Amino acid sequence: MLRYIALSLLSVFSFSFSFEKPIFITGATSKVGRRVVEKLASKGIKTRCLIRNYTKAEEYFGNLDDVHLVKGDILDTSTLSHIMTGCSMSINLHGVYRKSNPLHKLKFDLHNKIEDKNHPYYVNYIGTKNIISACKQNNIDKIVRVTGLATAFSDSHPINLLFNSLYSDNIFWHKKSENDITSSGLSYTILRPGAIKEIEYEYVNLVPERTKPPATIGVDNLANVIVQTILPSRNKFEDEPYSFKNKIVACKGYNTRKGLVKKGVLSLLHH
Ligand SMILES: NC(=O)c1ccc[n+]([C@@H]2O[C@H](COP(=O)([O-])OP(=O)(O)OC[C@H]3O[C@@H](n4cnc5c(N)ncnc54)[C@H](OP(=O)(O)O)[C@@H]3O)[C@@H](O)[C@H]2O)c1
Repeated sequence: MLRYIALSLLSVFSFSFSFEKPIFITGATSKVGRRVVEKLASKGIKTRCLIRNYTKAEEYFGNLDDVHLVKGDILDTSTLSHIMTGCSMSINLHGVYRKSNPLHKLKFDLHNKIEDKNHPYYVNYIGTKNIISACKQNNIDKIVRVTGLATAFSDSHPINLLFNSLYSDNIFWHKKSENDITSSGLSYTILRPGAIKEIEYEYVNLVPERTKPPATIGVDNLANVIVQTILPSRNKFEDEPYSFKNKIVACKGYNTRKGLVKKGVLSLLHH
């Protein structure tokens, strides 16, 4: 009974917290971002979405109440902090898949040399730095970021060697941004999914820091995990809220209980 009351109070607290101020979202138009914004809107939670393409965002979210679209760019430091003013927290789902340009392979030459702002150096790393600074300027204390499974591995791991060489050091720059987040002093959750698929799993297993590849997860599963970093969620088997605070969490979808780590299992299907 006491546990039930505690969970209810936690729910009430989370909802009132989120209702008062909007949640700042980057990558709202991403595969997973779109679902996150829709899920938050369905709970009456306000969002302020940083978007680059107004037509696309209007098509996605135009009919939703509580979704405020603001045109901008994570690399535009002159406006970012202003756009984030008054938000309660920052959920960061921006990302990029850019094939490598062999002429730009030397990591140490990237600074001031890469003109393509659509490079993971800018999007994953500088963009995230900018968001951390803007959070601090606005007294926003909480940040949620999705990076990826491979950030748990060393740079010499075969997966990282392959994907960094094919996709412009995407994982390398995600790893650097994770360090910035964990050392920022902000309260954080970093989620590390494997490949995000258009299929859904019955369970999502959450484990500290790393899990075995390929660790695929459904796009809706992941959106549910992101929502649950804000709202208390019950552990499938132990009926306890899962704590995401200041954690790096690897997430993987399962359709069977076999192989699940009991403590990290969330039932996400009927969220
Ligand atoms: N897809 C996967 O299988 C996978 C697996 C593991 C981890 N992840 C991670 O999960 C996150 C989301 O991935 P996703 O595949 O859902 O993303 P996505 O569909 O490729 O979308 C990327 C998002 O980032 C936004 N964006 C890019 N550069 C930006 C900038 N300079 N300023 C503002 N917004 C910018 C894009 O806006 P526009 O719509 O304007 O282009 C878009 O909303 C990423 O961090 C990714 O690394 C993805």
